[in-house]
Amino acid sequence: MTDPVTVWRRLAGSSVLLDGFHALKHAVRFGAEVPVAVAADRAATLALADELAPDVQDALAGLLTEVPHETYASFVPRPHPTAVAALAVRPSRASNLEKLAHTPRTAPVVVLDNPRNLGNAGAVIRLAAGLGATGVVTTGTVDPWHPTVVRGGAGLHFATAVERLEVSDLPPGPLFALDPEGDDIRATKLPDDAVLAFGSERTGLSPELRTRADQLLSLPMRPQVSSYNLATSVAMALYHWSCGVAGM
Ligand SMILES: C[S@@+](CC[C@H](N)C(=O)[O-])C[C@H]1O[C@@H](n2cnc3c(N)ncnc32)[C@H](O)[C@@H]1O
Repeated sequence: MTDPVTVWRRLAGSSVLLDGFHALKHAVRFGAEVPVAVAADRAATLALADELAPDVQDALAGLLTEVPHETYASFVPRPHPTAVAALAVRPSRASNLEKLAHTPRTAPVVVLDNPRNLGNAGAVIRLAAGLGATGVVTTGTVDPWHPTVVRGGAGLHFATAVERLEVSDLPPGPLFALDPEGDDIRATKLPDDAVLAFGSERTGLSPELRTRADQLLSLPMRPQVSSYNLATSVAMALYHWSCGVAGM
């Protein structure tokens, strides 16, 4: 058997770090390819799986190798309370683009237009996975597979299609851009093939995205409140889509 430390050192630069039990659990559950997984206490990790995730316990038993705590700690930026870490293969851009472009679509694509906060982007990917969105596209310079975004996404990058694209290359479908000045979202039934776009934390929607939008939609918010947090806005809009209703 190949030494996990050797495998880790070979793959770390080109793989997705799964930091902690929950990230590994989600990634395995949603079909990630995991070439190496380590735990400082393998028996305790499998007991946790028995308690919290029996569906992946056998898979984890096959993947996990026990290493000394210092070795585990040397693999991660900051030790996680569960002392579990793994490396996963990033899904190919081609396969993600195919999922994003596929029609007819049964759930919206979320677009984050030039997001700046990596934690926000991770929270949005977690939300999108939870509500069954087709994918999350970012525009701008942030890599949505940056380790900090992956940490915020709790391993759920593997449950939805996550890619960076230019505004001119967004997936097909009616483009609804969320903006406090838009029409009240409660009067609109969001279709399953919607592309739902959200602006940057600092500057809102870019002129390019605004120009492309079919409609601007606003979330209910009382006067004198300027805006919601980006991830909160995505949660409200996706929840509205999931209810499948319009009418105030
Ligand atoms: C933190 S806000 C951006 C605030 C920014 N200062 C601006 O000028 O718009 C981030 C994004 O969340 C969405 N958002 C926040 N509050 C909203 C609301 N009440 N209605 C619709 N979208 C909202 C928009 O897409 C917005 O661009």
